Amino acid sequence: MTFEEYYGDELFLLKMAEQRLLNIVKEYPSQEVMDGIEPIMYCKSRIKRPDSMVQKLKKQGLPTDSRTAVSKMHDAVGIRIICSFIDNVYEVADWLCEREDYAVIQKKDYISYPKPNGYRSLHLILQFTSGPEKDMYAEIQLRTIAIDFWAALEHQMKYKQYVEHEKIIREELKHCADDIASVDMSMQTIRNLIVDGCWE
Ligand code: GTP
Ligand code: MG
Repeated sequence: MTFEEYYGDELFLLKMAEQRLLNIVKEYPSQEVMDGIEPIMYCKSRIKRPDSMVQKLKKQGLPTDSRTAVSKMHDAVGIRIICSFIDNVYEVADWLCEREDYAVIQKKDYISYPKPNGYRSLHLILQFTSGPEKDMYAEIQLRTIAIDFWAALEHQMKYKQYVEHEKIIREELKHCADDIASVDMSMQTIRNLIVDGCWE
């Protein structure tokens, strides 16, 4: 099923919501960068694929039509913001929480409280309060570039039905996630020492 076939007229609004969020992220004041490393390295966005939306609705025992998808699911529109340092993740999230285009209805801090598999990210669920997108939901995920690299690999496990050595893969992924978290903390410390300790 194509996006047009599934979402129909809703697709236009979903795309508008996606673009509106991307435009908001672009306004993040990067001139405040002190050390020449951009707080936001890059940003990705997507409309949830029809098959995965239908699967999610079924799992929750809901009707699988697009109207239900858009009005009940929070992640039909998703934005992912990849930051350089852990502090940037929180700074950008705080800044996003102050925007007036939407209400932040949920904040999930999987950085302070990682998932058992080692997943670390900050998620914001928001609902637009104005414009044609009013009442629509979107999910913003924020994470460091190091964690994003891990999450991309870990995500592949979701689609593998039977994986040989699954246990060891999951254990290794957990080790990597914890190592990455430790490296992210060291990188933050080094950055702070460089920035706070120089005259420029
Ligand atoms: P869904 O996972 O979307 O059904 O919603 P949820 O209510 O469980 O929310 P959660 O915050 O757990 O996940 C939202 C999204 O975050 C997912 O769709 C993924 O994109 C991402 N995510 C959450 N957990 C993981 C994880 O363990 N690994 C990876 N790679 N991504 C994750
Ligand atoms: Mg989940």
